[in-house]
Amino acid sequence: MSTISDFNQKSCAVTDGEHRIQLELLQALCAATQENCSPASAGEILQQLVSYSEAHFMSEELLMRLKSYDDYEDHVSDHIHMMEVLAEIESAHASGKSALVSGQAESVLEFIKQHIATRDQRFADFMLAEE
Ligand SMILES: [Fe+2]
Repeated sequence: MSTISDFNQKSCAVTDGEHRIQLELLQALCAATQENCSPASAGEILQQLVSYSEAHFMSEELLMRLKSYDDYEDHVSDHIHMMEVLAEIESAHASGKSALVSGQAESVLEFIKQHIATRDQRFADFMLAEE
């Protein structure tokens, strides 16, 4: 029989997988900008990262709402911040400012690693504590 705790464990496993993909896309973007890849391939990775992050944040936010999560507002403000920086990176990329893209990609990578280790971890602990 399926229980709330089974659902919560599966949700956490799915979310972990999404975090891995998000980190891989960011690492690929950092590598592409440092290795002077063609702007087209960096742009393609950036586009995938933006779309993936939008979808991932939306599903995480829905799950937090479903669970009446108590740190929702602060958690979502991190997501908003990250999407704003990604939009800045997109515009730097569109105007050919590759050094700026590279620096910002590095700082987003640090930011999201920190977010996953703190706010996302707190939400996972909250879910797994629910019986
Ligand atoms: Fe999150």
